[in-house]
Amino acid sequence: MKDFLLFSGSSNKLLAQEIAKLLNKPLGKVDLTRFADGEIRPWIQEDVRRKIVFVIQSLSHPMDEHIMELTLMGDAIRRSAPETMVAVIPYMGYARQDKQHRTGEPVSARVIAKFIEISKYKEVITVDLHNDAIVGFFQIPVTHVSALQLLASEIKKLPGLSDKNSVVISPDVGGVKRARNLAYLLDMPMVVMEKKRHLDRFDTGESFQIIGDVKGKTAIIVDDIISTGGTIAQSAASLKDVGVSSVLVFATHAVLAGKALDTISRSSIDKVVCTNTIASRTQAIPPKLSFISIASLLADAIASVVSVK
Ligand code: R5P
Repeated sequence: MKDFLLFSGSSNKLLAQEIAKLLNKPLGKVDLTRFADGEIRPWIQEDVRRKIVFVIQSLSHPMDEHIMELTLMGDAIRRSAPETMVAVIPYMGYARQDKQHRTGEPVSARVIAKFIEISKYKEVITVDLHNDAIVGFFQIPVTHVSALQLLASEIKKLPGLSDKNSVVISPDVGGVKRARNLAYLLDMPMVVMEKKRHLDRFDTGESFQIIGDVKGKTAIIVDDIISTGGTIAQSAASLKDVGVSSVLVFATHAVLAGKALDTISRSSIDKVVCTNTIASRTQAIPPKLSFISIASLLADAIASVVSVK
């Protein structure tokens, strides 16, 4: 195995430490200070010359600061002649802006991809992009890790669920592929809900139609992101209205914006499981919400890059 170094930005240090532990490598020293006016000033304090360097940074809230930190760390590292530099991005913020939803808006996910390339990262490792097509926004190789197996293993640990009494739910048409894949892993049927988004009222959506048979069953909603919690809360309400016995939610990225925790607590959802791609910003996690670690998947992805170099 070639010599490599791991650095962490400030967005998800706990996850970076877990990854480092699994790889038996301490996190590299970096000073992430700020000038008096708020400008970020990263200072890499390791010899990166001819080494494979990984920078672990989730592009979560405050995403603009975390993106800036990732790009400036990249620029600092590349100036000291590493062999190669890989951005490990457990959660890619702006990924939901993957197309121009209406004239006059940017394709932000593409802009973020360009930022990463401009700072001379040569590869990207990321998890469950909102849309697989975002990989195409990068000119550099992207290892796109899926958390679906991890979520499926967690679901399989729950007692009493079977193909007869449970159904996997996609809360919107965009998530059908994800739900179909999870249903395949669990050998369960799949049902799709139709959600309409309001472009002029951000972060609101409504669940309308349930396309499939759910009555008396346990509904397993799978989603990539829980942001305001509106999608899963409204989906759960619609599902309970038509006689679903319980609603379990499994998602990769716990964005948990605004009053999401309150929305989840008050909802008719029975259980929510997310991964730790995004660091929790509060200790006040409702009892129905729990987290599983994505660290081993990212450590494996890093190890594969190192082993082929
Ligand atoms: C939408 O396309 C995504 O897959 C999620 O369903 C959405 O981002 C969740 O957002 P919120 O929790 O705000 O409803």
